[in-house]
Amino acid sequence: MFKLLLGSLAATALWQGVVATPAYGNSDIDRFVNKQSRVSIKGVLANIGADGKRAKGAAPGVVVASPSTSDPDYWYTWTRDSALTYKVLIEQFIHGDKSLRRKIEEYISAQTELQGVSNPSGSPESGGLGEPKFNVNLTEFTGSWGRPQRDGPALRATALTLYANWLVSHGGRSEALNKVWPVIEKDLAYTVRYWNRTGYDLWEEINGSSFFTLSASHRALVEGAALAKTLGKSCPDCAVSAPRVLCFLQSFWAGDYIDSNINVKDGRTGKDANSILSSIHTFDPNAKCTDSTFQPCSARALANHKAVVDSFRSIYDVNAARHQGQAAAVGRYSEDVYYGGNPWYLTTLAAAEQLYSAIYQWKKQGSIVVNQVSLPFFQDLLPNISIGTYGKKTKTFKSIVKAVQSYADNFVAVVQKYTPADGSFTEQFERTSGSPLSAVHLTWSYASFLGVAERRAGIVPPSWGETRANTVPSVCERAPACDSTITFKVLDAPVSNNNVFVVGSITELANWSPEDGIALSASDTTADLWTVKVKIPSDTIFEYKYIIKTSDGTVTWESDPNRRATSSSGCGSSASLDDEWR
Ligand SMILES: *[C@@H]1O[C@H](CO)[C@@H](O)[C@H](O)[C@H]1NC(C)=O
Ligand SMILES: *[C@@H]1O[C@H](CO)[C@@H](O)[C@H](O)[C@H]1NC(C)=O
Ligand SMILES: *[C@@H]1O[C@H](CO)[C@@H](O)[C@H](O)[C@H]1NC(C)=O
Ligand SMILES: *[C@@H]1O[C@H](CO)[C@@H](O)[C@H](O)[C@H]1NC(C)=O
Repeated sequence: MFKLLLGSLAATALWQGVVATPAYGNSDIDRFVNKQSRVSIKGVLANIGADGKRAKGAAPGVVVASPSTSDPDYWYTWTRDSALTYKVLIEQFIHGDKSLRRKIEEYISAQTELQGVSNPSGSPESGGLGEPKFNVNLTEFTGSWGRPQRDGPALRATALTLYANWLVSHGGRSEALNKVWPVIEKDLAYTVRYWNRTGYDLWEEINGSSFFTLSASHRALVEGAALAKTLGKSCPDCAVSAPRVLCFLQSFWAGDYIDSNINVKDGRTGKDANSILSSIHTFDPNAKCTDSTFQPCSARALANHKAVVDSFRSIYDVNAARHQGQAAAVGRYSEDVYYGGNPWYLTTLAAAEQLYSAIYQWKKQGSIVVNQVSLPFFQDLLPNISIGTYGKKTKTFKSIVKAVQSYADNFVAVVQKYTPADGSFTEQFERTSGSPLSAVHLTWSYASFLGVAERRAGIVPPSWGETRANTVPSVCERAPACDSTITFKVLDAPVSNNNVFVVGSITELANWSPEDGIALSASDTTADLWTVKVKIPSDTIFEYKYIIKTSDGTVTWESDPNRRATSSSGCGSSASLDDEWR
């Protein structure tokens, strides 16, 4: 059923999942990959409601992040984790495991319902799709959290587009149209509308522009526009927005690595597994080693791989004997302090997956280019290598493939070393002892193993159309502004001079900075009414307060709590907030 493009591979189906035996001859790793693939597909399915054995109580099709309910409590369903999990399940389905169909249909029903749940990020039409997580019974989670997170809708659209395309080519066009497209359509509309705004990154810590979110958005828009065409539907502004997102993505390139978070003062280097995960999830088997889309074999993505992996060499004790050019344990980013900051299984596996995908691309293209940008990556593995283009018949081509293959296998071997005998995956392994740490049976850890096993075997996903969508416009256009004008009105402020201001949680309200507060003016008709009009992006939830500043700089704040409001829907709309000083 699945395409085997790497010549001499022998594929064997194991436990309903699709696992192939590679021809590379690292038999210890082969055995581990086979066994761990079986544990991993079971691990994934156990965490999906309603019949998963570790997901009792979760609604059908709902992916529980982990059965851990305290320290940490991951008994929730995240849109991102679920989409990445189903992306790999749908790939397994396409490649032959038809038993997964019911689970996929249940996922679609669950997501259809979740898209309609109003939540702290907004209503279904006004930003609610950016909510990162929900209770496992499909109700909103109302606690405080890093929200919104804008990668969820794009990743879900990608997973479902894979399925919709399969349906279309297998007599299921009406199911694609009536059941799947409606979910994708809303996710794409969200992405078109919000890609150019800040939000929280995939690690839920930084409110800025995240490389992972933007690269997932680009891919979703490209394949979504194509799917719309196939189905005879429209995807307003998908095709127009995609090149804009691609253009913006170029600004994350810092010269020799990808700065994973921009538009935010985060005090970090930006070397972050965020970027490696981006590269593996936007891998297109038909692509060249394109720098603009950071394909796994691109010079940029390889240089970035080295930069990110190297950033963990000196900080983890478990890496003490793992020198430059040798595989190492990989975490999220070097400044991480979550559980003390440790390597993760899924990030170490991502480092392997990028390399297996790169090998696939080199073999398919029949050559490898070593240039100034990628040279340091290759030199770590082959010290004598020089800049050049090496055809597949050359000795250098063969040595590179062999070295990169063994480098990739060794990242898997690092994971093997810190995996308990029963194959169970937690979230992290401790930086000094290598002991499993944090959430048990993390779904994303298991799902990422399935992805690595496929790529190692040369099994690849369908193309998402990268070759038609990798040209960077010469000028980066923004998303069209969509603001609503809010008139702030406050009565009875205890002042006699012109010194009432408003500050709040968003850029337009000076991010709570009294020095930059927005001045209100006294109304001509009412002596004690102060007003100002401010343009705020529409459908934005924000907090604010009025303050009084005297000429000597003393600031008086209103009493707590913060005021909270949502700007109105619709570009160019207006509304007013009628407040009384408190
Ligand atoms: C859903 O789950 C939440 C969190 O566990 C709980 O508070 C709520 O009562 C549940 N709602 C329903 C309708 O079961
Ligand atoms: C919006 O897009 C422009 C053009 O690419 C870019 O310069 C800007 O940083 C982006 N802002 C956000 C918040 O995405
Ligand atoms: C994060 O940024 C978005 C605007 O892009 C804003 O709506 C949201 O309130 C911010 N979140 C927090 C907690 O400040
Ligand atoms: C690299 O070059 C040095 C000096 O030219 C040589 O001694 C060494 O054997 C070469 N190593 C490889 C792996 O080809």
